[in-house]
Amino acid sequence: SNSHFTRNLWNFVANEAEKLFLYQHFLETPWKPNTTNQQMWRSEWNELASNLTADKDFILTQQNVKENDSLTYSLYRKVKGKPMKQFKVTKKLMDNLPNASPLDGSHFGRCSVVGNSGILLDSDCGKQIDQSDYVFRCNTAPLEPFRCDAGMKSNLTTMNPSIIERRFNCLKKEENISSFAKAISQYNDDIWLPCFGIQSHTQTCLKSLDVYEGLNPRLLVANPAHFRLVWDFWRERKFGTEPLSTGFYLVHVALSVCEEIHLYGFWPFSAQLDPSPGQVHDIPYHYFDNLKVTKNHNMNKEFQILLQMHKHGLLQMHAGKCS
Ligand code: CDP
Repeated sequence: SNSHFTRNLWNFVANEAEKLFLYQHFLETPWKPNTTNQQMWRSEWNELASNLTADKDFILTQQNVKENDSLTYSLYRKVKGKPMKQFKVTKKLMDNLPNASPLDGSHFGRCSVVGNSGILLDSDCGKQIDQSDYVFRCNTAPLEPFRCDAGMKSNLTTMNPSIIERRFNCLKKEENISSFAKAISQYNDDIWLPCFGIQSHTQTCLKSLDVYEGLNPRLLVANPAHFRLVWDFWRERKFGTEPLSTGFYLVHVALSVCEEIHLYGFWPFSAQLDPSPGQVHDIPYHYFDNLKVTKNHNMNKEFQILLQMHKHGLLQMHAGKCS
């Protein structure tokens, strides 16, 4: 009956499967870059971030920090009457920093940022991802077993220090150090370590620089000031109080150094559409492990912003099969 139909209209609004259906169909419609919007984004952001540029300052280098400087940790928020937590730069840290950032002065044509969602499984996106000029990856996702779906090219790969603690026993023993070295040897270029997010991670994180000195890929230290600048930017835009996720931060960096940006594996939902119409099936939060959803980020808001960026031609999100 009519009343049944109209009631259903409202039921659809609250229906999770319906939401995924709309998102996925929206992302499958033909996409065009919008260079005017891209330029507008860049010039507005550059104006705000005049002192810190993504290409030079997203990591600590010999140029942008010196011995005895105070680094402010990026993930704490100001509490009235209390000083912010800081770290005094040591000579040892300086010795472990590169001369310049790998992105210094770079401008890439096509970039891919690979998030860790289970939506990548069976996507066959590996080839497309590897055709990029520069590939960003998150949290040392293993490469070889997911070659077809996520690709192998890895120019910059992030590693949360908690991974060094959990997977490599804080590098306490020789065997931990060698399995750490082996694990990161699968990546092409640089590993990005946020050593100055929260204080409890710093010691282990800096230890990894000491034990791994001079090997390939390089270990680079995230610049907490740049992360905070980006975080503050989004907070001022009604983002919420949760810290930005690694993937979202990388997208922000990519917007400054890449002409064309493709996102894969950004899908903070526990299901995706089946090829058969109207059906959904469950997917894991990560494509490579059984981690349960973490609630310390505002993933829903981030996804909404990324959708808008897609809509306005700043980047293209992929949420389905690539072939
Ligand atoms: O370090 P973090 O916990 O933020 O990241 P992760 O769980 O290792 O995943 C890497 C990035 O992929 C996240 O920071 C998100 O931006 C994105 N992601 C997503 O969009 N949807 C998922 N289901 C999982 C991750």
